[in-house]
Amino acid sequence: MTGRKVIMNFPVTATSHRLADYRARDGYQTLAKVLREMRPEQVTKEVVASGILGHGGAAFPAGRKWGVIKLNDEQPHYLCANADEGEPGTFKDRWILENAPHLLLESMLIAAYALQVRHAFVYIRGEFDLPYRRLAAAVEEAYEAGYFGKPVGQPIGGSDFACDIVIYRGAGSYVCGEASALITSIEGKKGYPRNRPPRLTVRGLYQRPTVINNVETLANVKAIVAQGGEAFRQIGTAKSPGTQLVSISGHVNKPGVYEVEYGYPLAQFIAEDCGGVLGGARLKCIVPGGISTKVLTASEIATVTYDHASLTAAGSGVGSGGMVVIAEGTCMVRLLQILLRFYHHESCGQCTPCREGMGWMHRIIDRIVAGQGHPEDIEQLARISRANDGTTICGMGDAAGYATLGILAKYSDEFDYFIEHKRSKFGGRLEVAAQEAAHA
Ligand SMILES: Cc1cc2nc3c(=O)[nH]c(=O)nc-3n(C[C@H](O)[C@H](O)[C@H](O)COP(=O)(O)O)c2cc1C
Ligand code: SF4
Repeated sequence: MTGRKVIMNFPVTATSHRLADYRARDGYQTLAKVLREMRPEQVTKEVVASGILGHGGAAFPAGRKWGVIKLNDEQPHYLCANADEGEPGTFKDRWILENAPHLLLESMLIAAYALQVRHAFVYIRGEFDLPYRRLAAAVEEAYEAGYFGKPVGQPIGGSDFACDIVIYRGAGSYVCGEASALITSIEGKKGYPRNRPPRLTVRGLYQRPTVINNVETLANVKAIVAQGGEAFRQIGTAKSPGTQLVSISGHVNKPGVYEVEYGYPLAQFIAEDCGGVLGGARLKCIVPGGISTKVLTASEIATVTYDHASLTAAGSGVGSGGMVVIAEGTCMVRLLQILLRFYHHESCGQCTPCREGMGWMHRIIDRIVAGQGHPEDIEQLARISRANDGTTICGMGDAAGYATLGILAKYSDEFDYFIEHKRSKFGGRLEVAAQEAAHA
């Protein structure tokens, strides 16, 4: 058991994503209570009190973001749920979209009320098929039931608040998950990240104040408001209130999505809850929160608990909640090659250090893997990574640099070996794969 549950607290059945089932679980009751009893500022106050941190990667306090929106400023405000989920290894928002779309919609209506939003958006990654169909069907059900009011100002739940919602499908660009690129994409332009300031809460979508939150962050709003921010804060740890949906994949016996209460022992989560490493192999390292977080070795995670403070102290982070388990026998040179191919492919090209740096690093690692590496390549990769730090418009340049530096620092022997012997220390094969074949 991975602790208390906030989101995955119902049995998943063939119909549990439908409105009737959601209503049977008290669905939309919190919205009704909010509209009946609470002023918008009170809702934001509860979110502030909950201490919830954003689940999209940057861990920014949601209440602080909401608090920036000036109510009654006679400007349109917008709310966007970030359902782009492009970070490799991350597939936890997908669970919410497929299994609890009405939880997201009810939470978004509560957020929209708090922020005085009349038009909300869900930006969903283009490759998502079932999550999109489930969400679209839920939106249709919610409109039919009168939770969303088409004409602005039409009563909702008996009050004078009404909100429309639009699902916007992306076209498969990783960078469009970055909040300002997402907005630019909704506006119908090329999904380029924007320089900030101004912050998006001041000038966002269509130049108006906009709150962008990750799907999971928003899905927590119902529970926060239903039980009160202070009660929510009792879940998890003092600095990381609540839970995290963790998607776990790689060399692990029971991959999937798990809800983990912050503060849960990380090694126990992998060894017991997720069934341990595939094929009985030894754990080499993990990527704790999407490939943009630094790898942590098996010994580094021995005493780590799953929360922001503990993972940061270990030198990495919760990130996007996408954990990848890596078994002994995995070649880290090849792993870095895969990462750099991805970052090179996804760089939008606006910033020189990212555009040129990603391509340069990709060419170097390809050369190493082809057996044509030079000893100075390792320092060159590190130098290019450092050149991205703080010099790019969005966080992708930094993230690619951190991920590369993390692998180089911990596995330099494998790079030295590859360059000297012109082949992987591990023969280019996974021990795990070999063991599995032997057991087949
Ligand atoms: C390159 C890049 C890709 C990102 N992709 C996502 C994504 O797929 N989903 C997401 O929620 N946040 C993503 N983010 C983070 C968003 O910019 C933003 O911080 C987040 O959506 C805010 O929501 P939160 O405060 O609830 O975490 C990405 C950031 C960067 C730099
Ligand atoms: S850091 Fe890379 S992805 Fe981000 S804006 Fe600059 S070029 Fe584009």
